[in-house]
Amino acid sequence: MHHLETFRRYLLPCPVVPAPMCGYSDRPFRDLLRSMGARLVYTEMISSEAMARGDPKTWQLMDFRGEEPPVAVQIFGSRPDVLAESARIAVHAGADAIDLNCGCPARKVVRADCGAALLDDPKRLAAICRAVRRAVDVPLTIKVRWVEDDARTLTISRLCEAEGIDAVALHARTRKQGYSGTARWEWIARLKETVSIPVIGNGDVATADDFFRMRRETGCDGVMVGRGVVGNPWLVGEILERLDSPDAAREPGGEPSPSERLRLLRLHARLMYKYRGPHGLVEFRKHCVGYLKGLPGARAARPELMQSTTLEQIDEILVRHFSQIES
Ligand SMILES: Cc1cc2nc3c(=O)[nH]c(=O)nc-3n(C[C@H](O)[C@H](O)[C@H](O)COP(=O)(O)O)c2cc1C
Repeated sequence: MHHLETFRRYLLPCPVVPAPMCGYSDRPFRDLLRSMGARLVYTEMISSEAMARGDPKTWQLMDFRGEEPPVAVQIFGSRPDVLAESARIAVHAGADAIDLNCGCPARKVVRADCGAALLDDPKRLAAICRAVRRAVDVPLTIKVRWVEDDARTLTISRLCEAEGIDAVALHARTRKQGYSGTARWEWIARLKETVSIPVIGNGDVATADDFFRMRRETGCDGVMVGRGVVGNPWLVGEILERLDSPDAAREPGGEPSPSERLRLLRLHARLMYKYRGPHGLVEFRKHCVGYLKGLPGARAARPELMQSTTLEQIDEILVRHFSQIES
């Protein structure tokens, strides 16, 4: 029970929760999101098998030294004992919560009986929840999708709740849908009526208005935002501001100024370099597109930034293309 209270405490200061995203939810992005007011932040999904065998690359994902808590580590796998062991390792490394990926639709993942495949095998999933619950003394959550043609996600969530899960996040799409079509928020409302643990709604929240509409329409306790914060981490701050002063709810605004966009772009690039070295700047390119959106001059700067390999080059390109930048 105390884990549930701990999890509620994580959600309380900031009910907008950045989603776990492969290739995005690294230390630099987590830190940036926290600087916008996010509290509970997830890692990308991490292989329990790789963790348990001590794979060095996987180990790098678990360096939480100096990181502001709470960080939730998302694990994926199919074997209860291995998942339990990886959860133990993650907590030892500093995880403040463990999330079990039960929603990834990628073929490679599903073929290995991981991710969304767990929704086809409730018995195994229950055994996993039981094993992981026993292994760690931090909140334990699951992230699921909707199952085609029936309400299995509801029964599965109840089953997991009975096994001691503290919250469930629902990406309101089916596995077949992948990322296409629209998220069906009514499924989140049904889940909220079904379980008593916190429900985190997820899918197609791209603006502060979407956040408030999802909360209103589904009654969910938290809203998870994935693609909506890529290139736009300010969304977290905008939502928090509107939560603090509901009178401001109808005011436009929230759009960062061009100089703020450029400031954050540079800061993000520096964090990428600090934590991930030169390769971090290659990884950074995919964030650039989002930051440059709406900036006059972006069209010319983008292809150059996509080829840049050093911080000096990035600065030089920005100074050349944007008058708001001071060299
Ligand atoms: C590039 C990318 C990587 C993702 N990686 C993960 C992941 O590692 N674990 C996970 O549970 N979901 C992952 N997702 C799914 C998101 O967490 C989220 O459920 C989905 O994007 C829907 O939310 P959105 O409409 O706010 O983006 C990923 C999504 C994207 C676009």
